[in-house]
Formats: sequence, C-alpha cells, structure tokens
Amino acid sequence: PIRQRLLVVANRLPVSAVRRGEDCWSLEISAGGLVSALLGVKEFEARWIGWAGVNVPDEVGQRALTRALAEKRCIPVFLDEEIVHQYYNGYCNNILWPLFHYLGLPQEDRLATTRSFQSQFTAYQKANQMFADVVNKHYEEGDVVWCHDYHLMFLPKCLKDYNSKMKVGWFLHTPFPSSEIHRTLPSRSELLRAVLAADLVGFHTYDYARHFVSACTRILGLEGTPEGVEDQGRLTRVAAFPIGIDSERFIRALEVPKVQEHIKELKERFSGRKVMLGVDRLDMIKGIPQKILAFEKFLEENPYWRDKVVLLQIAVPTRTDVPEYQKLTSQVHEIVGRINGRFGTLTAVPIHHLDRSLDFHALCALYAVTDVALVTSLRDGMNLVSYEFVACQDSKRGVLILSEFAGAAQSLGAGAILVNPWNITEVASAIGQALNMPAEEREKRHRHNFEHVTTHTAQQWAEFFVSELNDTVIEAQQRI
Ligand code: UDP
Ligand code: G6P
Repeated sequence: PIRQRLLVVANRLPVSAVRRGEDCWSLEISAGGLVSALLGVKEFEARWIGWAGVNVPDEVGQRALTRALAEKRCIPVFLDEEIVHQYYNGYCNNILWPLFHYLGLPQEDRLATTRSFQSQFTAYQKANQMFADVVNKHYEEGDVVWCHDYHLMFLPKCLKDYNSKMKVGWFLHTPFPSSEIHRTLPSRSELLRAVLAADLVGFHTYDYARHFVSACTRILGLEGTPEGVEDQGRLTRVAAFPIGIDSERFIRALEVPKVQEHIKELKERFSGRKVMLGVDRLDMIKGIPQKILAFEKFLEENPYWRDKVVLLQIAVPTRTDVPEYQKLTSQVHEIVGRINGRFGTLTAVPIHHLDRSLDFHALCALYAVTDVALVTSLRDGMNLVSYEFVACQDSKRGVLILSEFAGAAQSLGAGAILVNPWNITEVASAIGQALNMPAEEREKRHRHNFEHVTTHTAQQWAEFFVSELNDTVIEAQQRI
C-alpha cells in the first residue's frame, strides 16, 4: 500500500546540528517529549520541517546542512539570531511557556516583558510565516500537514492563506490553560483565530481541549459544540489525543548487552541503598527545587534512611539563553549543595545532581535500577519520563510518585502515588510510603501502569490523529 505523505512541522527538528567545519555538520538527537514521541511515528511517509537549533548565517553552511538533514528526511527552517532571540527565547519561552503552565511572568521581568511584547509578537508571526514558506515549498497535493506546539500557533492560518485545501492539523504538547489565564495575553484573540484555521486541533487531555473551547467561546464569542468550535458554519474539530511512548523500544533496549552491563554497574555502585530518580529538563515547570526540598524533609524526619537512599537527579540543560532558566540552575545548585553538605558523609552524598543529558541506553539502565521515580511537575502537558520509567520496570516493579498536575496523572493515576508538588510535607510522606511499600502492592500498581503504557503507544497516537484529520476534512467537504 502507498503510505500517506505526512509533513510534520515543529520548531525543533528531531536532530540538532553541530558545526564541525565550513561545510561539515554532525547531527545529534534533540531532547524533549515532542521529539521522543514523534520518533515513534512510523506508519507514514514522513518529512520533518523545523529548526536545527543553530544559527547558520552563510550559504555554504546552509547548503551543507540541508544536504546532511535530507538523509534524515529533515528539512531545515533557517532562523537568524535576532528572530531566535525575539521569537524563541522571547515570545515562546518567556511568555507563552510560563503562561500555559500557570507560572505567570517573573516579578522583576514583568514590566520589561510587557514593553517588549509587541515586538516579540511580531517576530513570532514572522517566524511562523517562515515555517509556512518552507512547508509550502515542499507541499504536494494530498499531503497531511501536522503542526506542533506553542511555537507554531500562527502556522495553520499562514498555511490556509496559501492554500485553503491543505489538510492542516495542530497539536499542543503543553497544557492549554483556563480561559481566565489565556485572557491576559495581549495577543489572545489573534492566537486563537490563527489556530482555528486548522481542520483539527488536538490536546493531550480532555481538560486542555475544554479550556481551549471555552477560550474561543468567551474571548471570541464563537459557538462551542461537542465536536469543536463553530464560526459561521465552519467547524474546527477539537479533541483529546493522549500521547504515548514507543514502549517496545524501551523493553527491547533492556536486553542489549551494553545496557545489561550498565545495569550491573549501577547496582554495584548503589548496593545497600534504594535508588530514587528524577529525569527532567532543567525547567521551572518540573518543580525540581520543590522535589529536592521534599527529599530534604524526608531525610530530616527519617534518620534511619539517611545512609540507605540516594536521589539521582538528571537535569538536562535547556533554553539556556533565557534568564529565568539561568536563575533556576543556580538556585538548584545552591539547594543541592546545602543538602549534601548537611547530610553527606566523607564517602557518600544523598543527592547526585547531573547537569547533562544521557544517551538512550544509559537512560534505560537508570530507569531499570530505580526503586522510586519522582515526577513533581508543577504543570506538565503529559510527561513522558513517567511512561518511560514504567516501561523499564517490568522486573523491578518500582514505585512512581507523580504530580497530579502532569497530564500523565489522568492515565497513571491509579498506579502511581499522586501528590501535590507544592506540598512538601505530602511529597516527603509519599517518599516514605514508596520506600516502605510491600511487594504485593508495588506489583499491583506496576501492573496497572505497565498495561496502560504498553497499550497506548506513540504510534497509535499519531495514527488516531491523522485518521481523524482525514475524516474531518472529508466530512467538511460533505457539509458544503
Ligand atoms: N530525555 C532525553 N535526554 C536525557 C533525558 C531525557 O532525550 O538526557 C528525554 C526523555 O527520554 C523523554 C523526554 O526527554 O522522552 C522528556 O519528555 P517529557 O515529556 O517528560 O518532558 P519535556 O522535556 O517534553 O517537557
Ligand atoms: C517541550 C516542548 C517541545 C520542546 C521541548 C524541548 O517538550 O513541548 O516543543 O521541543 O520541550 O524544548 P526546546 O526549547 O529545547 O525545544
């Protein structure tokens, strides 16, 4: 059968480029949930369109990088430094990201951000138009165009302006906040209208979809229906498509000799101690300081456990040009230093904090040896780390402590210990409960989570979304 052509458009390509010479590039896998999920999409004849994460001012470099990316079926969008500053660091990561996660703007930046808002919004629209130009150049009739995330809310409109027959879907990987939050954005209406140009709009959870529909009814005065949002007879379909992971890939990885060896080393290294694990991009939304403070409280109240437990926190550097992220890094370092100073001994510290990413195999080994995983996001669209941990736990049956504010709480809620990450007392006692949990209960909880993670995959997620998009377009044609 001929596979349907799919153009996947996201700000970040699944590979990021590093320059090795005038016309020489090497490519590395990018970090983050969006990329991980899309790597699991295999049913389609897919092309990826996006930014390679570097500034390439010269034509020689651009041509060489375009060639290198073509081998990975990737097509670059070149953004210059000024655009990256205003669009990516500014509008996307300093305004939309905190707002969509209910974090608001940092107090001291509030006025400065308010002043630069208009110029950043203009850059955002311009950047979206640049993505649209590249999509338009590569588009063939019948293609499905799937736009991703908060970086590209203008893209559906730009694409439909080019060609109203294009099949366009848009999916948000973050929460969509309550309309009361969205209402504070100066560009609230333009953003909603641009997204509504899509044929299908998707979210991780039913709540996010509902928030989006009520933003459209309250702010734009449109009509919300069970199907989506209606504007003068034209329907934009809105629905929830909870994402998953390629669980087989993780389960298979555990059999790889290199991973097994790594598992053995880790077990020896931490023998006699329970291993607790956190894996997050070093982002405000992940609640890393809150998690570490809860761990401190647990150690404080449970002297017995002090030399019997270790917390490994992998904090992947991210968006390092945004000041808020720089502040978070030093804040976390300070807290970790203080706690290790307080509870460490000459030979051991309670927290191992790593400011780096791990390769896939090292990550799988870590997941496999973990007794308790701690996911304490203050808000999180879904959180794939919790899924990946579960997939790697079939022999150990460790415990997942999961924030009720992560999208994953809706699917793994019955198997995990759910916590409010702002309540450090509650998280500290959840740590105690997890470390002391009888095998029988761990088994039962793990079964529940494992069943979900292995039956709701990234592959199915993509198939559901694209087939719903195809159906939506056919139904719209029949309505005319
Ligand atoms: N991850 C990674 N490198 C690392 C650690 C994690 O690529 O060193 C991956 C991890 O496997 C997961 C993703 O980054 O697939 C994080 O996704 P999640 O949904 O948990 O959070 P996000 O980063 O998208 O906010
Ligand atoms: C989240 C976002 C993605 C983004 C990823 C990494 O998962 O939803 O769109 O790619 O974080 O962030 P970055 O800014 O490095 O692309």
